[in-house]
Formats: sequence, C-alpha cells, structure tokens
Amino acid sequence: MQITEHANLKQFNSFGMNVTSRYMVEVNSEEDVKELIASDLFKQNDHLILGGGSNVLLTDNFEGVVVRNVIAGREVVEENKDFVKVKFGSGENWHDCVLWTIENDWGGIENLSLIPGTIGAAPMQNIGAYGVEIKDVFEELSAIHLETGMTRIFRNNECEFGYRESVFKKELKGKYLITSVTLRLSKKPDINISYGAIAETLNSLNIADPTISDVSRAVIQIRQSKLPDPAEIGNAGSFFKNPTIPSQKFEDLKASYPNIPGYPQPNDQVKVPAGWLIENCGWKGKTIGEIGVHKNQALVLVNYGNGRGKDIENLSKEIRASVREKFGIELTPEVNII
Ligand code: EPU
Repeated sequence: MQITEHANLKQFNSFGMNVTSRYMVEVNSEEDVKELIASDLFKQNDHLILGGGSNVLLTDNFEGVVVRNVIAGREVVEENKDFVKVKFGSGENWHDCVLWTIENDWGGIENLSLIPGTIGAAPMQNIGAYGVEIKDVFEELSAIHLETGMTRIFRNNECEFGYRESVFKKELKGKYLITSVTLRLSKKPDINISYGAIAETLNSLNIADPTISDVSRAVIQIRQSKLPDPAEIGNAGSFFKNPTIPSQKFEDLKASYPNIPGYPQPNDQVKVPAGWLIENCGWKGKTIGEIGVHKNQALVLVNYGNGRGKDIENLSKEIRASVREKFGIELTPEVNII
C-alpha cells in the first residue's frame, strides 16, 4: 500500500481536472484494501474511490484520501463447451480486457469496446453501448464493505441493474469497494448488430458475416468518429442520461418538433436522446473559454486543457435550464460530480 501526500489528480481523471488530493493511496489487492480501511488515515478522513476516473467531475481539491484501485487479475474460473466465466481484478482497464476476450474468441462484450474506465467501475453504472449492457453478461462481483471490512458476493439480481444504474449508485453508494467482477462469456457468440450504426459501418466495410472482432472494430470506428479521446480532450463520455418521458408528452412535443427522435420503452414511456435536445437548444460545438460542448456529440462536455470543474458544472446547469425551458424535460447528470 503506497501513500502519496498532496497528489496531483490530473492524470487520474479523464476530464483532466488539475486538482489535488490531501492523500492518495494505491490498492493492489484485497489485503491492501483491508489494511487501508483499518488504518487511522482512512477512518479519520473523507475518502473517494477512483477507478479509471472516467465518470467523475472533480470540482475542487479533495481534502481526504483518494483510493486508486489498481487490483489486477484475469482468471478463468469455470468453463464448458458453450461458455467461460472469467474473473477480472477490478482495477484492470476495461477496454484492454475487452480486446483480450476477443483474442480468446469469447463473445459478449465486443459491443462495449473502447469504453474508458476500469472493470470495477463498469457494473456500478451498468455501462452500456450499441445494444448491450454489462448486466447481460454479468455473473457476480466481490466487494469489501468499507466500514466492517467484510467481503460480500453480489449476484446479478442483487445489483439492481437499470439504465446506467445499480445498487452501488443508490442505497449502497459509497459503502463498498469492488475488488473483482466475474463475467459469463460465450464460446458460440450471438452477434448483436441491432444498433443501426453498427450494421451501417459493417456494410461500408463490406463485411456480411461479422465475427466478434469485426463488431469490435466497427464499434471502435463509430466511437472514434463521434466521441473525443480523453487522452487528447478531457471528457467523461455522456454527461447526462437520456431522459424517459410519458408517451403523451412525447406526442405533444412531436407536434411542435416533428424530427424529435424517441425510442419506445415499457409502461407507456419514450426515451429521448439528450444529445438531440441539447443540440436543438443550440449548444453543440459551443466553446466557452477552456471548456465546451463537443462538436460531434452534444451529450459530451469537454475540457480543452485548463478548464475548471466548477465551470463544467455551471455549463451543465445552464444546459439543463435551457432544455427544461424549451422542452419541459429534466436532464439528470450521469457523471458523479464531486
Ligand atoms: N443526437 C443528436 N445530436 C447529438 C447527439 C445525438 O441529435 O449531438 C441524436 C441523434 O438522433 C442520434 C441519437 O441522438 O441518432 C443517438 O445518438 P448516439 O447513437 O450517439 O447515442 P446517445 O444516445 O447519444 C448513448 C450512450 C452512449 C453510447 C451510445 C451508443 C447514454 C447517456 N449514452 O448515447 O454512452 O455510447 O448511446 O449506444 O445512454 C456514455 O455513457 O458515456 C456513452 C458514451
């Protein structure tokens, strides 16, 4: 367990916010986590657990302990002719693991290629893209309770997965540190190209019978064309969730805005792309000093270099206010604002 004082966090958050933490501790194993939480340092200070730092907006210096989870590991724990269960250390980089599963010809997470962040952060917000969510392949995770030090296994149904939601963002928020995640991957993968853009991209590459590797390549191409690379422009992916509204409200909006896109949901609801709402309030590509709204995807707020977290937060409030005023829809941030 390594402790650094007055650590600069710029390289540890994908927004690239130039802030510090009073202490930073790297944990490499379950034993490290247990040692840390038993320490006075941990008990006497606030704490913030960072995986890849790709879903947080740091608005100020952090006066407590930042815990950097770098727990490694990739282990096949069960296998038969149809599937394989792989247990990943929670500090592993998500995309590296996706590429590794594809090399092994195990299907299930190829649509989730190039999502920034770590394995441990993935179930917290049930990451999803191009028709797949982690909950579709999730078997179980292991986590340590931060007050008692007890290890608990959470099975799929115990995680209460929803759209960008899990129990770890709700009643168990801040209570556990996830140490490993086990996924059930298929040796006879069902290719999922239901999302229009994937089929179009495969078509343009002249691929009629795609493998999981082809699907991954198509997803990477789409993401690179729309989403800024955090290594070049600071960002945390989608800043807001796509809102769900009653069908009747959607029909009313359609009367005024015939082009408004909507995806029917259960219980007479319609999901509306927040990117469309934000773009139609005139925000797409807007730059305000060092920050702005990305030019290819209005759902992504960006830091061009020396932006401050508070400025991004204020911009997000202005965006919410204009979407509320124009469409009567409330946007909810997907990113954790600290
Ligand atoms: N749109 C616009 N203008 C924009 C952006 C989007 O009009 O600037 C409209 C278009 O109609 C487009 C539709 O929104 O067809 C959907 O856009 P896109 O396919 O880019 O997806 P999204 O709904 O904006 C969601 C996820 C992404 C994920 C993609 C693909 C959320 C909050 N975001 O974005 O996830 O990659 O679908 O599945 O659900 C993330 O969570 O960080 C993330 C990038």
